[in-house]
This record gives sequence, structure tokens and C-alpha cells, in this order.
Amino acid sequence: MKRIGILTAGGDTPALNATIHGAVVRANQLKIELYGFIKGFNSFFNPEVPHVHLNPLFQSIPELDPTKGGTLIGSSRDYVDPNRKDELDEITDRLKKLGIDGIIAIGGDGTLNGLQPLAERLPTVLAPKTIDNDLGLNYPNEADEWVRVNDASASCGYRYTHTASDAAFDLDQIVNYVTPGYATAVMVTAQGVERVRTTAESHRRIAIIEVMGRQSGYIALGTAYGQPDIILVPEYPLDIQRVVERVRYLYDLQKNVLIVCGEGIVDAEGRELGAVSSSTDPAGNVALSGAADALRTKLVETLGDRYFQRYRRGRTAEEAIFTRKVGHTQRGGRPILFDRFYAAELGSKAVELLVEGRNNAVAVLQYQSEKGFHVEGYDANRFRDRWGLIHARYMHPALYDPKLMKPSKMGIDYLLPIFTDAIGSDDAEHLRQTLFDAGNLAQPYHSINTDVQKRIRYLHST
Ligand code: F6P
Repeated sequence: MKRIGILTAGGDTPALNATIHGAVVRANQLKIELYGFIKGFNSFFNPEVPHVHLNPLFQSIPELDPTKGGTLIGSSRDYVDPNRKDELDEITDRLKKLGIDGIIAIGGDGTLNGLQPLAERLPTVLAPKTIDNDLGLNYPNEADEWVRVNDASASCGYRYTHTASDAAFDLDQIVNYVTPGYATAVMVTAQGVERVRTTAESHRRIAIIEVMGRQSGYIALGTAYGQPDIILVPEYPLDIQRVVERVRYLYDLQKNVLIVCGEGIVDAEGRELGAVSSSTDPAGNVALSGAADALRTKLVETLGDRYFQRYRRGRTAEEAIFTRKVGHTQRGGRPILFDRFYAAELGSKAVELLVEGRNNAVAVLQYQSEKGFHVEGYDANRFRDRWGLIHARYMHPALYDPKLMKPSKMGIDYLLPIFTDAIGSDDAEHLRQTLFDAGNLAQPYHSINTDVQKRIRYLHST
């Protein structure tokens, strides 16, 4: 390996620059050149393959700051179509001309699916990232358990389902215990709960806070750190009567209730409450943006106005129950120590895997109660089902207590190693030093894109 290409794909997460930084540091030590492709796979569709040399003279470029959120090389939800052989030939040809010996893609399950056709043409490795924490396996043979069932409403005539497994679930067996980005996202959602609580408490209201995660409940689960009263996850169909019972109990006791719901929560029939449209994004994901509002409608209907009027705690149920989405603040901004550190380790491991001659591999973050966290290389095919598809990881049901609507004992055991020391002292100090810097008022925002633009090179001019 003399020259490796690196790209960031899918939605941005806080620790992308940290992963790139880890890869650059390792590449410098091994005297390997690292080229960053602009806007993810999108760069490959441009005959000029816009890219940035990230380590000229084996020194990191100064624009690469591992403490900054986002990605200095940009990202997109464009993926390579495995059926377009002509396009794949063109891409391979361009990368060869650019002297690329291997590719590192930083991404999630969509990126790993999109990487497969390229892996058949040149060595590729994935360094995981996603705030949803849905890239991985709850146990090594989980991918084999996916089955296709006929579904006339699906365009292809079938859909995939995953039946509850008999496999013993052991935290030490999880493949890719946690993905960089998750810890920072959970810090934001937990803080969001703390802040909204004061309003709910002061005004005797019921707040529903919607968090991201798609069909996976990990972000909702971790938001337990903000001490919400009820957490609803997509892995357990909504039992509205049980939720109403619990809301009544809590509201009678403390006169305010805070509910966290994952954006992908489903009703008893398995329909997503938040699927406001059947449209999908380019990676094939259903757009989810109405879970909290749909839940609110159900609570308003079931609790009714009289319940609030009885104790003069609001004129109407509509007035008493409100929703907020944490939204993209979960994905943005400075990564906290846990994410930065392990993102860099994974970036470094990705370089090593390519140097060791691995192809179609994933750098994974493993956890063992005896050893703590460590990085390893894992065969990407082990993430694929029997048809070759990679599915987003669901939160294992054992991590959640459906009665209490909170993390189970095992869920708490899962969260502790990630979060106990997740925030570094520099993270707290950063806020103190930067937010109210007088310069922020006078200076316009300076985008990293402005600087990186000056470094972009093109295939035919390199
Ligand atoms: O995949 C990460 C994620 O944060 C999801 O949880 C969320 O639904 C989605 O991205 C939203 O991204 P966007 O609105 O930017 O497409």
C-alpha cells in the first residue's frame, strides 16, 4: 500500500474527522499517502475524482482537526450501484489512474452495503460510524437469522424480518459494541431531556421528546441518562394502554411526565408511527419524522381534556401535552472524548487492515468485561444475510424492560462501559472557553469547506 483513498459516507456524525485523523497518523507512521475523496462516493462519479491529499510529506494538513464535528472532506448519501457494471468499470479505472491501492470508507450499514461492489475490484475496509449505533451484530450469527417473507405491498414482493433468537445474549459477544458518534449523540439527547424537564415540571405538562435512531432503540435507551420517566423503543410495539396507565400514575404523583420516544416506534401491527411519508432517502430508508406527534395525538385522545381540567392543570389535553425533537443537534458538533478516542483507533486500524492485505473487512470496536475496549478486524461478509444484504442492528430486546419502560439491568450494564468516563475534562473546558468568546459576535463563521476547497485536486491535474 502506497496510496490509500478515504471517504466519509451517509449522514454526518460527530467523530468523522477523528477517524480520518487516526488514519492519517497511522499512514504517516507507515509512510503511506492518504487521499480524501470529496463528498463520499459522489467523488467517484465525477471523471475528475475531486480529492484532497491529507498528508503531504507524511504530515497531517492543519485543517484536519479531530475535535471538530462534521467531516472536512464532506459526505453524501450517494452509493455505487452494484448492477451498473459500466459505472463500476469507470470508477475502477479512475481510481487506478489516481494510483489508489485501497479504500477506507467511514460509514454505517448503508455504506457497507455500498462498498461491496467495489470490494470485488480493489481492497476496501470500513471504519464504522453512526449515531444510531446500528452497525454491528448482537451476537456473531445474527445475520443468518434474517428471512424473507412475502409482502404484496412491497415493490419487490417481499420484506425481511428477523425472528427472536434462541441464541444466548452476552454483552461480551457483541460484534462492534458501539459506534463512534453514539456517545456524543446521547449526551445531547440526555441534556435535552434535562432541559425540557424543567418546563414540564414548572408548568405541569407532559413532554414527548423524539430522538433519532431509525428502527433501532439505542439512542432512546442511552437517553436514560437524562432521567426521563418513560422510554419507548422501536423494538417493542407501542402498548398505548400501558403507556397511558403509566402516564396517569406518574402525572398524579409528580404533576409532570417526560417521555422519550425513538423516531422508529411502531404500533401493534408493526407500522411506524413516525412514517409521515412512504418516500425513502437515497439509501433506501423510510423518512421518519412524526413519531412524537403521532404519540401525542394518541395520548390526547386517550387521556382527554377532563383529566387535566379535574386538577386545574391545563384547559385541554392539547395544551398540556407537547412534543420536541432533538433533531440534527444530535449529529452535529464537537465529539466527546469517548467518540474521538475510539474513532481515531478505528481509523488507524482500518489502515493497518489494508496494509495486512485484508479486503472487504470492517474495523470493529469490541468490548470484553475483562479487557475493556479494543479494536479488531472483522470479515464484512459476516455482517451479511444469506442474500448478501447488511441490516441495521436492532437494540437487543434484553437491554430494555418493557414493564418499567426503561433500560433493563442488562441495558444498564451495556451502557456503563461507554458512558462512565465518556466526557473528558477538555470537553467541559471547551464550552467554557469558546461559546461566549467575544470574537464570535464580531467574526463571521469560517467554514472548513472554504479552506479545503483550496486543496482540492483533480485526476487529470495531479
Ligand atoms: O442515520 C442517522 C440518522 O441520524 C437517523 O437517525 C435519522 O433518521 C437520519 O439520520 C436523518 O438524517 P437526514 O434527515 O439528514 O437524512
